[in-house]
Amino acid sequence: MTDRYAVIGNPISHSKSPLIHKLFAEQTGQDMSYEAIEAPLDGFAATIQRLRDEGYKGCNVTVPFKFEAYALCDQLAPRARDAKAVNTLAFRDGKILGTNTDGAGLLADLDKNLEFKLMWKDALLLGAGGAAAGVVWPLFNAGLGLDIANRNIEKAQLLADEFKGAGTVYARRYEELTGKSYDLVINATSSGLSDELPPLPDGLFKPGALAYDMMYGRETPFMAYARKQGAAIVSDGLGMLVEQAADAFFLWRNVRPDTKPVLALLRK
Ligand code: ATR
Repeated sequence: MTDRYAVIGNPISHSKSPLIHKLFAEQTGQDMSYEAIEAPLDGFAATIQRLRDEGYKGCNVTVPFKFEAYALCDQLAPRARDAKAVNTLAFRDGKILGTNTDGAGLLADLDKNLEFKLMWKDALLLGAGGAAAGVVWPLFNAGLGLDIANRNIEKAQLLADEFKGAGTVYARRYEELTGKSYDLVINATSSGLSDELPPLPDGLFKPGALAYDMMYGRETPFMAYARKQGAAIVSDGLGMLVEQAADAFFLWRNVRPDTKPVLALLRK
């Protein structure tokens, strides 16, 4: 019987995940289906229950349900616990297992696709919402020096405080960034959605620096700013999307798909 999977979000109609998983399944010869399901904003838990009743094997979870998914799990992987959010569920033996592949997806894109070495580099993470929280521990664990900038400084401070005892992560106001420079600047704000640019100063990029926007599907003001400011590499988040999907696929199917041809096809 064909194993069924899905991605749950709201809205979800523009999701590329069904196409990505279809390409992975074809490439690896896995007998599975994967569809996009929009859950009502107040109906996430009920939707998960329905999928389990119908025999689905697992699902991905996206905005705005990653925190609810976290709360729903019977068992959490350490990286889901770090992120306090879940983007991948597996339904096994009557239990809901949860993990988070967003951070690993970002690291894989930086390391494999963009060939950017992270160890001992200085990074600036823009934003302190759900998207930032999902990647902050993996970035720290990759050996980066990390600053977190956010308009609401309390939110950035809360994220930075998670590292007390593990190392030093600084929360910065945007005004404090003047005169600072980084090897890696990651935009994890939702500013691109409204075609806005966070209030960034000139001179933020060190020679050879990489500017990364976690959004995909369009050239954001942040990407345009980075090009103008002389960042050596400017990337959107499509590679992260494909890599986090590959990690989920591996957890479900025990087969690691080759992401390169899938990413190349999506870029066309
Ligand atoms: P997500 O899950 O996408 O991170 P979120 O939790 O609502 O969404 O967080 C949105 C993030 O984008 C926040 O860090 C927000 O900054 P504030 O907390 O200071 O509001 C940030 N953000 C949104 N629009 C922005 C803009 N135009 N400039 C700078 N930051 C912006």
